[in-house]
Amino acid sequence: MSPSSPPPLSSAVFICISFLALMISPSAALTCSSQTFTHNQVYSNCLDLPYLSSYLHFSYNSSNTTLSIAFIATPSKSGGWIAWAINPKATGMAGSQSLVGYKNSTTGTVQVHTYDISSYSSIVAKDLSFEVWDKTAESRRDGSLAIFAKIKVPADLAASGKINQVWQVGPSVGTDGRLDKHAFAVSNLQSKGTLDLKSGQSSTSSGGDDRLKKKNIHGILNAVSWGILFPLGAMIARYIRTFESADPAWFYLHAFCQVSAYAIGVAGWGTGLKLGSESSGITYSTHRNIGIALFVLATVQIFALFIRPKKDHKYRFYWNVYHHSFGYAILVLGIFNVFKGINILKPEDKWKTAYMIVIIALGGISLLFEAITWVVVLKRKSRKSTKPCDGYNNGQS
Ligand SMILES: *[C@@H]1O[C@H](CO)[C@@H](O)[C@H](O)[C@H]1NC(C)=O
Ligand SMILES: *[C@@H]1O[C@H](CO)[C@@H](O)[C@H](O)[C@H]1NC(C)=O
Ligand SMILES: *[C@@H]1O[C@H](CO)[C@@H](O)[C@H](O)[C@H]1NC(C)=O
Repeated sequence: MSPSSPPPLSSAVFICISFLALMISPSAALTCSSQTFTHNQVYSNCLDLPYLSSYLHFSYNSSNTTLSIAFIATPSKSGGWIAWAINPKATGMAGSQSLVGYKNSTTGTVQVHTYDISSYSSIVAKDLSFEVWDKTAESRRDGSLAIFAKIKVPADLAASGKINQVWQVGPSVGTDGRLDKHAFAVSNLQSKGTLDLKSGQSSTSSGGDDRLKKKNIHGILNAVSWGILFPLGAMIARYIRTFESADPAWFYLHAFCQVSAYAIGVAGWGTGLKLGSESSGITYSTHRNIGIALFVLATVQIFALFIRPKKDHKYRFYWNVYHHSFGYAILVLGIFNVFKGINILKPEDKWKTAYMIVIIALGGISLLFEAITWVVVLKRKSRKSTKPCDGYNNGQS
């Protein structure tokens, strides 16, 4: 795009900013951190569990190995049940020590019962293999139920600092307190994972710590590449070029920035593919598909560098149109996907805030430079209008 046609970038910046605004507000409103309880119970950690729209709030006191929990979920039908369990010996449902909550259809109060699920065929109310006290429950305004309890974590689990958790929702409860079968969708079968008592992190497959480390590396590489370097490189191409004295330095700077972004991005992309292949049953399809699209677009951009027609070639115009549209697509999708990733990984708030500050700063600098570019270009035009036909707009890019 020649400097005399700046509008597309200002629109791209606007689209970006509106995108961000759209993405940030609902995700902040949805997290467990905004949930409160009738009796103002406070827990030091909370998690948005990855399946069945469930939430776990918990505090763990390691000096007396006591875990206090509040589990929130919505029964699959009204009148149904919700359950949260620790499985001391395995990872699935069989063997899990469950806390089950449902609304008693006669009394209208929410009751909590314990079930020792020794096998799939025998689900009867029974004391658990560890001590549980202060069991209460409440029904919430949005139709969900909350179960509260304190649990004495057995010594072997306390020593490892990790417990296997399982959660579930079901459709109905018989008059005798028999739980009717839950659905067998992927989310009902995947609703289990490791709960790290010390760090408050939850992971949905084994090897939680290692996986978390990989996810963090994946996040940092991609945020730096797609989320920061690519936009920066685009800004260099668009704004530094306006200053005639910066030619051809801007081009080398731009190419350097994008090639390094691409190298880091490909590394980040590889870690993403690895994470995806290791995660059985969980697919973040939008994040993954955008990631693949980004890789394809960026690869085409890098190779297009070598088939770039000369400035005055008649096809250069088409090359420019293609190069800029792919570039802006990468810019918007890259930033979008970084936020998608942040919402999946759920790091501490400061990371999201830091990234937002970087993006807002880049956006602000762009707006400023956009204004300067316009002034420079208009001035140049008025100067040139006295001597037309000097071919200024002829494929400068
Ligand atoms: C943990 O439990 C011990 C023993 O009951 C108590 O002294 C301590 O204050 C508790 N810590 C917290 C953070 O509640
Ligand atoms: C451990 O300490 C906490 C906080 O002081 C208390 O609420 C809990 O009942 C204690 N657990 C046991 C098993 O005494
Ligand atoms: C509901 O509450 C009544 C009265 O406490 C009790 O007799 C009945 O067993 C409860 N029903 C269920 C399904 O727990």
